[in-house]
Amino acid sequence: MAGTSLCHSTDPCTNGEHSGHPAVPSSSPSGIGTRGGDDGIPVVDFDVLVNGAADQRAQAIRELGRACEDWGFFMVINHGVPEELKEAMMETCKELFSLPEEQKAEYLEAGPMDPIRIGTGFFSVVDGVRYWRDYLKMFARPELHCPAKPAKLRDVAAEYSAKTRDLLLSLAKAISESLGLDGGRISEAMDLESCFQILVANHYPPYTGPDSAGLGLPAHSDHGFLTLLFQNGVDGLQVKHDGQWLLAKPLPGAFFVIAGDQLEIVSNGRYKGMLHRAVVGGERARMSMVSMISPCLDTVVEPVPELVPDGQGLEFRGVRYRDYMEHQQSNKLKGKAALDIARVQRD
Ligand code: SIN
Ligand code: FE2
Repeated sequence: MAGTSLCHSTDPCTNGEHSGHPAVPSSSPSGIGTRGGDDGIPVVDFDVLVNGAADQRAQAIRELGRACEDWGFFMVINHGVPEELKEAMMETCKELFSLPEEQKAEYLEAGPMDPIRIGTGFFSVVDGVRYWRDYLKMFARPELHCPAKPAKLRDVAAEYSAKTRDLLLSLAKAISESLGLDGGRISEAMDLESCFQILVANHYPPYTGPDSAGLGLPAHSDHGFLTLLFQNGVDGLQVKHDGQWLLAKPLPGAFFVIAGDQLEIVSNGRYKGMLHRAVVGGERARMSMVSMISPCLDTVVEPVPELVPDGQGLEFRGVRYRDYMEHQQSNKLKGKAALDIARVQRD
């Protein structure tokens, strides 16, 4: 890592508007076709979910359930997180990536359980695909850990993590209802109210290498419960749906929401942790901002008994979240392989 610039000099790191021209090739390195455009990604109107009349709410909960069951992925609109706050978070993290190396050095080479971690995956290859990204990971709860510079990062990250956490916790309630449970049941099962939360800023420099398609982040599902993501106007998130990789294009102002492995476990596999990856390949830098909530580190997550009538068809055994996260983070991202440590093996 030493000597590698985290923000290339040619890199505008632009926080621009949606370009309409995704910096993504039409076919992936693996040869799997990608479809962009209007691909039917479900959209959840958060305002209806919270403030809608009873029948509208019920309909929205049903649609949310279908989105979780069929996709494990959706967009949320009217979410109440101010655009200025999102922009401030993006801009401040962009500044961080541009800092001189020595100011970031103390956070490099940190391990998966270190509360602040800056890293780069440039040039590393896993199973034939390249990583091509820098990242900043910060534990935001139970306590916010954040680099000393840029100086405003602490305040911005504190506000951003609080607002996005509230949104994610409200979505957790609605998801619980969509499973036919009480609104608070999933939260209670995972101690979500005092949850563990991580913020991640990803930075993918422009890719103009000899191959037409650079891959930023290999396919994986997230180790947590629910992930909220927005990007800087440059597309690149792909999701696996019905066996096909789709390029996810956000509606203006929307967040993407990604179901994580803990949702798959607690719902006994009814909702699946969604497989996703990030591609690069254009002349513009891409940035994405992640806020993820998870169970408390010491919570043992297992399927909610109500979803496993008479104990029949139990898909997962209980695994302490800290162990799960360490296991997933200590191994190179490999699809959904991490879930195997929780899966009940059948003959
Ligand atoms: C991630 O999966 O953490 C990031 C995906 C993206 O950059 O869109
Ligand atoms: Fe992810």
